[in-house]
Amino acid sequence: MKTKVICFANNKGGSGKTTTCASLAYAFGERGKKVLMIDGDMQLNLTLSYFNEDDALAFAKSEKNLYNAVKNGKGLEECIVKTEYENVDLIPSSTLMSSIEFELFTKWQRESILKKMLLGIVSEGKYDFVLIDAPPTLGCWVMNALVASDYIILPVEASPWGLFGLANMFEFIESVKEINSDLSLLGVVVTKVDARRNYFKQTLETLKATEGINVFQQVIHTDSSVEWAQDTSKPVGGYKKSARSAGEYSALADEILEKL
Ligand SMILES: Nc1ncnc2c1ncn2[C@@H]1O[C@H](COP(=O)(O)OP(=O)(O)OP(=O)(O)O)[C@@H](O)[C@H]1O
Ligand SMILES: [Mg+2]
Repeated sequence: MKTKVICFANNKGGSGKTTTCASLAYAFGERGKKVLMIDGDMQLNLTLSYFNEDDALAFAKSEKNLYNAVKNGKGLEECIVKTEYENVDLIPSSTLMSSIEFELFTKWQRESILKKMLLGIVSEGKYDFVLIDAPPTLGCWVMNALVASDYIILPVEASPWGLFGLANMFEFIESVKEINSDLSLLGVVVTKVDARRNYFKQTLETLKATEGINVFQQVIHTDSSVEWAQDTSKPVGGYKKSARSAGEYSALADEILEKL
């Protein structure tokens, strides 16, 4: 199987990008797929989903992080760290990613820098998946993440404001396609569904009525295990296999694998 690069993006903050990226990486790994996660956000949340704070800050201070690679043109391969799960590796982030837009500004072909940096890893074919966690912005850096990707997965929170701003996101995807015509929206995943409330049905209906987008059958419910897992620096499947959200992310992984 050719390495598939998938970016988790939505300019709406807190929509479940990082949780979905971390949980799917675990679920794919469990299915024997080799996964490289890339933490593209200065909040270090993806790194913190697999490593404790001390480790995450140590990566950020060392040379093994994405910011250093982009700024100094360092090989991405050298920034890969192993997680405690055999099939799941990570390129950590750095808090300095806060100034990535500034760093990119003076670079030649600044929308395609990450794509070029990933060429070696993708052509080597060692990984089945490269999963990129994007920050909640729509600037040149997220453009880089999408230019480097084959697919985008868009997590949307089942809340009244979850859909707000989605039109901007779709417009942004269209503008990325001018550079990367192969990019396709693999699907929208509805997250943080509250089982006691019916609101998510409205979110789902609105999304399903939107032409040309796939909405994944599998939704993800609000589950306190997600927070406990994050508290112990583990993806939810690794923290508690029997957790509702762990099962849901596992089923979502199957649904995605069927589509690819
Ligand atoms: N299924 C869930 N059940 C309970 N809490 C969840 C669930 N999914 C995400 N959360 C919580 O919601 C918050 C936002 O989730 P997450 O960090 O994954 O979103 P994000 O889109 O990556 O946010 P940002 O835009 O800041 O990067 C986190 O505190 C996380 O613990
Ligand atoms: Mg995030």
